[in-house]
Amino acid sequence: MRLGALLRGGELLLLDGQLGTGKTTFTQGLAKGMGITDVVSSPTFTLLKEYTSQLRSHTQEETQRGLALYHFDLYRLDDPDEIIDLGFEDYFYGSDVCVVEWADKADLLWPAERLHIHLKMMGETERGLLFTAAGQRYYELLRQFYYATASS
Ligand SMILES: Nc1ncnc2c1ncn2[C@@H]1O[C@H](COP(=O)(O)OP(=O)(O)OP(=O)(O)O)[C@@H](O)[C@H]1O
Ligand SMILES: [Mg+2]
Repeated sequence: MRLGALLRGGELLLLDGQLGTGKTTFTQGLAKGMGITDVVSSPTFTLLKEYTSQLRSHTQEETQRGLALYHFDLYRLDDPDEIIDLGFEDYFYGSDVCVVEWADKADLLWPAERLHIHLKMMGETERGLLFTAAGQRYYELLRQFYYATASS
């Protein structure tokens, strides 16, 4: 949730980790932090699900379109080229937020700048998360995230 609250649009978050390590659960928290009220479920059978946050303007009572979250799950992807065939690449260079489960299925294809999150099973009720920034903006994002989590 804290990381989601720091997102401004245009971010690419790549998740990897064994079955059941918490990739979907992590995305649910991220969505909440972005102000998304819809229930985020596993997109396993659809490859991609889209959610939009609602921003309420302070001056007017109208709601504006907030950031979109594109939630990918590549578990069932047979060939990384399918991503290109399906036109998914455009999303990764867009101005909304992309989260990709099983990102390691398409390793060579990602933009140079992205945030990697590796999830690991530490025990039945415990998970380890390793965040790795590639690119200045993600380095800065991780720095903010570090302060947001360390201060509470
Ligand atoms: N941070 C966490 N701490 C403890 N348990 C967790 C955590 N995150 C997820 N879990 C539990 O792990 C199980 C699997 O979670 P989840 O479905 O999010 O994993 P996943 O990595 O998306 O799985 P899949 O590989 O099938 O997509 C659930 O029972 C969930 O409650
Ligand atoms: Mg999942």
